[in-house]
Amino acid sequence: MAGLMAGQNALIMGVANRWSIAWGIARSFAREGARCLLTYQGERQLDTVTELAGELPHSLVLPCDVTKDEELEALRATLAEQVGRVDTLVHSIAFARTEDLRGAFVDTSRDGFLLAQEVSAFSLVAAARAAATLMTNGGAIVTLTFAASERVFPNYNVMATAKASLESSMRYLAHDLGPRNIRANAISAGPIKTASARAVAGLGDFVKVYGEKAPLRRTVSQEEVGDAAVFLCSALGRGVTGQVLYVDAGYHIMGF
Ligand SMILES: NC(=O)c1ccc[n+]([C@@H]2O[C@H](COP(=O)([O-])OP(=O)(O)OC[C@H]3O[C@@H](n4cnc5c(N)ncnc54)[C@H](O)[C@@H]3O)[C@@H](O)[C@H]2O)c1
Repeated sequence: MAGLMAGQNALIMGVANRWSIAWGIARSFAREGARCLLTYQGERQLDTVTELAGELPHSLVLPCDVTKDEELEALRATLAEQVGRVDTLVHSIAFARTEDLRGAFVDTSRDGFLLAQEVSAFSLVAAARAAATLMTNGGAIVTLTFAASERVFPNYNVMATAKASLESSMRYLAHDLGPRNIRANAISAGPIKTASARAVAGLGDFVKVYGEKAPLRRTVSQEEVGDAAVFLCSALGRGVTGQVLYVDAGYHIMGF
């Protein structure tokens, strides 16, 4: 039986290791028949990402540090040459300095604020611009956000402002690219213990509180986020753009 994403080329940015949300998405996409094109950030990640890619049929591994325009352009050029068409872009990238993910938000430095915005929000715009040139048959873009974009989660601090910017960028991309039948959406995931999440002080407390207060009395897994991304990036989601889809066991509906 053909999968929901059979014949698709999916560019997935943000697999660092087996715990990455992007890896959960890659596995769901591969199960549904997509060819996964994985990027890695620097030589340090190459071996791990290559090993993981080996578990997916016909995958490709390419470098891309999103702070470097030349690497984004090289990625676009290599994909144009080796793959031709891209159907889906997954942006699962964020970074802020550890000292800006604890303590008082009011102490955030100018550099720390700008760095978080550049890597965690502007990178979506840059990656979408590069990928959209290859989306010649329409396409889907999905980014990963967190509910701290709208509500205060102590310690999430500077990353919360980046997520607010990321969600707004997603909406503007949906508007710009819609006439080319390219959709842009975000998944707002519940807390998951990944390398990036561990940098946020008190992440373990978030997971614990979701377990107590979310309607489903738990947080979510990488696999559940991956399956939601299949919906958004396959024909099932063809009428959906500019949305933030909460995959958070329902936590965000709670007022008390
Ligand atoms: N884990 C959670 O609780 C959670 C919840 C909601 C949203 N998110 C978001 O999901 C996304 C993925 O995070 P994750 O939790 O899977 O952690 P992760 O550490 O596995 O992934 C983060 C990725 O960002 C990449 N990255 C950072 N700087 C980069 C750069 N300059 N160039 C290219 N790549 C760069 C890293 O290489 C890594 O692959 C992030 O946007 C994160 O904010 C995470």
